[in-house]
Amino acid sequence: MKISVILGHPKVGSFNHAIANTAVETIKAKGHEALFHDLYAEGFDPLLTAPELDKDPELPPEIEKHCQEIEGADGVIIVHPNWWSQPPAILRGWTDRCLRNGRAYQFVPDGKGGATPEGLLKARFGIAFYTSNTPHEIEEEVYGDPLQTLWLKVVFGLCGIKDVTRRNFTSIIVSSHEQRVKWLDEVRETVSAYLD
Ligand SMILES: Cc1cc2nc3c(=O)[nH]c(=O)nc-3n(C[C@H](O)[C@H](O)[C@H](O)COP(=O)(O)O)c2cc1C
Repeated sequence: MKISVILGHPKVGSFNHAIANTAVETIKAKGHEALFHDLYAEGFDPLLTAPELDKDPELPPEIEKHCQEIEGADGVIIVHPNWWSQPPAILRGWTDRCLRNGRAYQFVPDGKGGATPEGLLKARFGIAFYTSNTPHEIEEEVYGDPLQTLWLKVVFGLCGIKDVTRRNFTSIIVSSHEQRVKWLDEVRETVSAYLD
């Protein structure tokens, strides 16, 4: 299987990098192909341009490559820190530019004047791993769990990825080395479960 791993964190050596590296190692150890993108390291430009809003435009080569990879992926793994209950802008820009209308999803007329969204990605699973400081209960009860909605319902849901998991590692700021080792074990187990 081909599994896309998309990381949005600026600092090499961060716990987010450890999560992404653990996911990639697990994919390879299971004999699958990891399509890994460290968006900051590759200098990904998150700004969607006017021509990209046209139907079937000629995309910049790096964006076309991202689009083709995600369309061919059997699984998608997203890794990022929680920034203002959102992914970092670089990763939001990746969704804007690489999950395109007509390729990752489409809207089909419903015959009643409206449109029904239809997912077009063939990936059979999606995982969102992210790190936070806010306790999970507060994220859910006070903020309404925006990242759960964004990844599981909006992004994976709209693109047709049905088997989805998210894991919010929190509170990262007070986590011990031992806790982080256990969290990485959990990453390994979560990814492995989809590859067996
Ligand atoms: C711009 C910015 C915004 C942040 N917003 C939040 C937030 O809304 N909720 C939260 O729990 N943590 C927030 N944080 C803390 C990060 O989630 C935390 O630093 C990160 O998960 C640590 O991951 P790392 O150890 O891999 O660097 C924010 C951090 C930054 C820099």
